Amino acid sequence: MKFSKRVDRFPDEIFASLNKRKIEMEKEGKKIYNLSVGTPDFETAPHIKNALIEAAKEQDNWKYSLRDTPEMLEAVCSYYKRRFDVKITPDMVCSCNGSQEGIGHIGLVLCDEGDTVILPSPCYPVFIAGANMAGAVPFYYPMTKETGYLPRLSDIPDETAKKAVYMIVSLPSNPTGSVATEKVYDDVIDFAKKHDILIIHDNAYSDIIFDGVKGGSFLSHPGAKDVGVEFFSLSKSFNMTGARVSFCIGRKDVIAAFRKLREQIDFGMFYPIQKAAVAALTGPLDMVHRQCDDYEERRNVLCGGLRDIGWNVPDSHGSMFVWAPVPEGFKDSFDFCMELMERTGVICTPGSSFGPLGEGYIRMALVLAPEKIKEAILAIDKSGILKEGR
Ligand SMILES: Cc1ncc(COP(=O)(O)O)c(C=O)c1O
Repeated sequence: MKFSKRVDRFPDEIFASLNKRKIEMEKEGKKIYNLSVGTPDFETAPHIKNALIEAAKEQDNWKYSLRDTPEMLEAVCSYYKRRFDVKITPDMVCSCNGSQEGIGHIGLVLCDEGDTVILPSPCYPVFIAGANMAGAVPFYYPMTKETGYLPRLSDIPDETAKKAVYMIVSLPSNPTGSVATEKVYDDVIDFAKKHDILIIHDNAYSDIIFDGVKGGSFLSHPGAKDVGVEFFSLSKSFNMTGARVSFCIGRKDVIAAFRKLREQIDFGMFYPIQKAAVAALTGPLDMVHRQCDDYEERRNVLCGGLRDIGWNVPDSHGSMFVWAPVPEGFKDSFDFCMELMERTGVICTPGSSFGPLGEGYIRMALVLAPEKIKEAILAIDKSGILKEGR
């Protein structure tokens, strides 16, 4: 069987051996501290679950929905006003089956083969997969220690900017845990206007920001609605990862084209999930704030605890991740992750899975309770891995 050239653009699973060993260790009953996957372990609020359960009892709700209900679109608009003080209208909103899917496909609407797109590095892997899907050629701007883990527009040459179709910005950042300043967005908007580039802002972590900073929306910045769209996911704020609900919001012509593409292949989001989304967006938000405090406590325990045992891991400022430098004495991030897992049961993700500039770091997810994180730190300390290297 000959497969498409498109499929060859996606790299093979280079971490298969890490996953295989993880499954073996689980079977062997070894103590595991899995910090590799960013799936929240917090409860979905009862009012959200109940909305879905009640809606699922109605036979009519098992039909193709075919479209975003006016009720859900209104709920997104009222949420953006309430939470971010951003005025949007229903024609500026289109649902997708999670930001992963939406970002994976939006390039098909915007790019032709060979077009240039501008992506952060390191970055969330679907940014790269989406460019590959569309046949676009990525230019990577660094989001490294040298740039303060923020976009530095002077790193993008004029000739690249001139020909680029879109640029992805995503703060708080997965994997680096960095957080935007107001100026970052204002500068990005000026840059987009100057070079006629669409900005795609991935706002997955607007509700997981630490040290008293309040998360916002890119669209709240003057001019943003003219130059950009924002992916806003319910996955992390509302612990709804499995329900796959996200919205692409912003510039009307982009939303209309995105909807047109989707209508060719998508018969709409399951009605009970739309009802659950409405409940989340219109309901109380106190648990979202409590949960942010819990993530911050985990951040303190993990980063502080690792520093106490001699690993210089900086505090992350937002997202549910910590970006830790690979200690001395290891070949690369994959080598270190394998050794760490073997010797301590702590499973992390090698930085090299986040694009060309991810090497030299590993990513840890804040998905365990503080007591478990303390146990994991003790296991790392006892193993001597930080002192001896390998
Ligand atoms: C930056 C970023 N964007 C998007 C996603 C995926 O979100 P969704 O569950 O809406 O597909 C994640 C998940 O980890 C993420 O970290």
